[in-house]
Amino acid sequence: MNNRPLLIAPSILAADFSKLGDETRAVRAAGADWIHIDVMDGHFVPNISFGAVVMKSIRKQCEAVFDVHLMISPVDVYLEDFAAAGANIISVHAEATTHLDRSIQAIKRLGCKAGVALCPATSEHVLNYVLDEIDLVLVMTVNPGFGGQQFLQSQLPKISRIRDMIGDRPIHIEVDGGVTAANAGACRAAGADVLVAGSSVFRGDASTYATNIRALRDAAAS
Ligand code: DX5
Ligand code: ZN
Repeated sequence: MNNRPLLIAPSILAADFSKLGDETRAVRAAGADWIHIDVMDGHFVPNISFGAVVMKSIRKQCEAVFDVHLMISPVDVYLEDFAAAGANIISVHAEATTHLDRSIQAIKRLGCKAGVALCPATSEHVLNYVLDEIDLVLVMTVNPGFGGQQFLQSQLPKISRIRDMIGDRPIHIEVDGGVTAANAGACRAAGADVLVAGSSVFRGDASTYATNIRALRDAAAS
């Protein structure tokens, strides 16, 4: 369990890209705590989403925390662009950088909070020597690259083991991929305090986003 307040971070990958500014404002007004920004390069993951220039264009639309998930490799060369475009948190994949500690230090030098993202097949032990350097662990509960996939139950024990590893360090545990009201309670019980949700929040239209977010909060609390 995690007694940090629960945060909901809708992923704009599932938003209507023809009106990304309106969608970002609408989901924030509907109760989103953070905005999860899924950056995909078609190399680290088999899909392409958008880059720093798009994120910069929506930064002015909303004052919420921009929680940037870089599914790109190489990654160090782009950190400054995302920091300059208004990222508050930048998470890099442990699998996407040869020198994870160096990438984390680079993010912090840019004034952003640093997160490490783990693919489903990656052991939590990659965190062993960076736990005192990071602000967030992003546990992928799908194989990265697409929204709307099925939640991988196999990751729940990993979340609990990470919770134990962290102890009382001020580190967020974020779960990302296939999160719905059906599994939000299990994620919270395992130790998560931030839930990313794309398709389960951006279902319907802007008039339903608040109901969708509330359903996640209620399920996580149950
Ligand atoms: C997948 C992304 C996730 C995904 C979440 O690679 O990192 O953030 O967009 O979308 P849903 O909640 O639909 O799985
Ligand atoms: Zn993500």
